[in-house]
Amino acid sequence: MKKILVTGASGQIGSELIPALRKKYGLENVISGVHKRNLTKEVKGSGPSVNLDVADENRLKEVIGSIKPDTIFHLASLLSAVAEQDRNLSFKVNFEAVYNILETSVNEGVEKVIVPSSIGAFGPDTPAIAPNDTLQHPNTIYGISKVFGELLGNYYYPTTGLDVRGVRLPGILSWKVEPTAGTTDYAVAIFYGALTTGKYTCYLQSDTKLPMMYMPDAVDSLIQIAEADGSKLKHRSDFNVAAISFTPAELADAIKKRIPGFRIEYEIDPLRQSIADSWPDELIDDVAKEEWGWNYKYGLDEIVDDMIDNLKTKLEVSAH
Ligand code: SER
Repeated sequence: MKKILVTGASGQIGSELIPALRKKYGLENVISGVHKRNLTKEVKGSGPSVNLDVADENRLKEVIGSIKPDTIFHLASLLSAVAEQDRNLSFKVNFEAVYNILETSVNEGVEKVIVPSSIGAFGPDTPAIAPNDTLQHPNTIYGISKVFGELLGNYYYPTTGLDVRGVRLPGILSWKVEPTAGTTDYAVAIFYGALTTGKYTCYLQSDTKLPMMYMPDAVDSLIQIAEADGSKLKHRSDFNVAAISFTPAELADAIKKRIPGFRIEYEIDPLRQSIADSWPDELIDDVAKEEWGWNYKYGLDEIVDDMIDNLKTKLEVSAH
């Protein structure tokens, strides 16, 4: 990877993937593609950026044609809860833009495109402990778009030579940029509640178990799959990557151990509850381990300690 374009650069993942890529591949060689939302200071100040609405096909062609990246990380996507509320925009961003990026990449000689998938690519008939290769009948527009991205990615390599790779990410906990459009966001919002008011009202039931991961592991998984030796890959755009699974009650207990006065209440949001209920409890990531040596580093205790440490500093700083 010599020149890298990252779409969705202002999002939860982009804000942390870009600094990691710049450290490895050089500040000037990683270009942030951004639309509407502001980049973090860290991303803005550390390298080039370009205005890029991925739903604008002409602009997409212009940007890829002028930057001529050899690798693209295509992170721009509407998350699960928001996607349900705007199917038209979801279609443009989560379906059409994926196709346009891959097709433009073929035409412009891009070598590799990383398109992250998600636990959302599974559905109600997927086993609760989901193997890598299993039933995928998601019942959300987000999930359908993720299966579309996986299948399209797997199609491009043998037919065009464009090397499209992806991992199915769990819900991601992080402290730099707060996610607000997904179903797993409670696992981040709960820390803001715990540290600012000492309480949090959770929109999922206390016993809803979901696969989760800390951001440093998610960033590693994206860089590792991009760098993996292609000759060893039997899968390409559809790897489960797992870390830990927990319920809101279990996360709340872990927070209470550090912040004893913390209280959690529950007020269920039917949309996000039904989305969460359609996803597996755990992912089995034996295929990623075998084909490219994946493993996670952060368990629940390490995550909770690190989130609280960093958010304490961040929230104190922003409060003064
Ligand atoms: N975190 C995402 C969401 O909740 C799942 O990929 O939408």
